[in-house]
Amino acid sequence: MQNAFADQLALIADEIIRQKVVDVCVEALQTGNDGHGWDNMDFPFTLVIPGVKVSYVEHVRIVTDLAFQSASLLRDRGIPINQDILVASAILHDIGKPIEMAQSSDGTVGKSKVGNRLRHPVTGAGLAMKHELPYEIVQNIYQHSWEGDQGPKRTVEGEIVHRCDFLHFGPLKISLESK
Ligand SMILES: [Fe+2]
Repeated sequence: MQNAFADQLALIADEIIRQKVVDVCVEALQTGNDGHGWDNMDFPFTLVIPGVKVSYVEHVRIVTDLAFQSASLLRDRGIPINQDILVASAILHDIGKPIEMAQSSDGTVGKSKVGNRLRHPVTGAGLAMKHELPYEIVQNIYQHSWEGDQGPKRTVEGEIVHRCDFLHFGPLKISLESK
């Protein structure tokens, strides 16, 4: 897991936060898939785009890289951004997905038992809270999708992660639909 996100984890300066991010990823991958765990992170990142070939690990890398690069531009123009909070939130934004999804015996991936009850922002935020990550990161995970539209107000870092998540999802969906 560390290897898959090595470039992204290296952007987190605080060793304690970095280790907790790893711990949360490991626990989600070990306890997801209806308790069977996942052997890798190659399962599709979304069930909303049928037949999508982009894996979970690829999506998380893309969103984290987009968030980091966007933050560099915005910081140069005067917007204060906490890089550790931003990168940790980006790496973990979809960490509820290994819990929300399960693979059946024929290899198809769908909703898990938990996933039929709780969306990934809830399970991801819950796991981050269990590992005592800063509340801003818990909030950013919980608010990365439409749950965050209800308030409380997103953090600056959470707003960037939210936009970058949809910056990958939206154009990808449109490009596949127009094929
Ligand atoms: Fe995402």
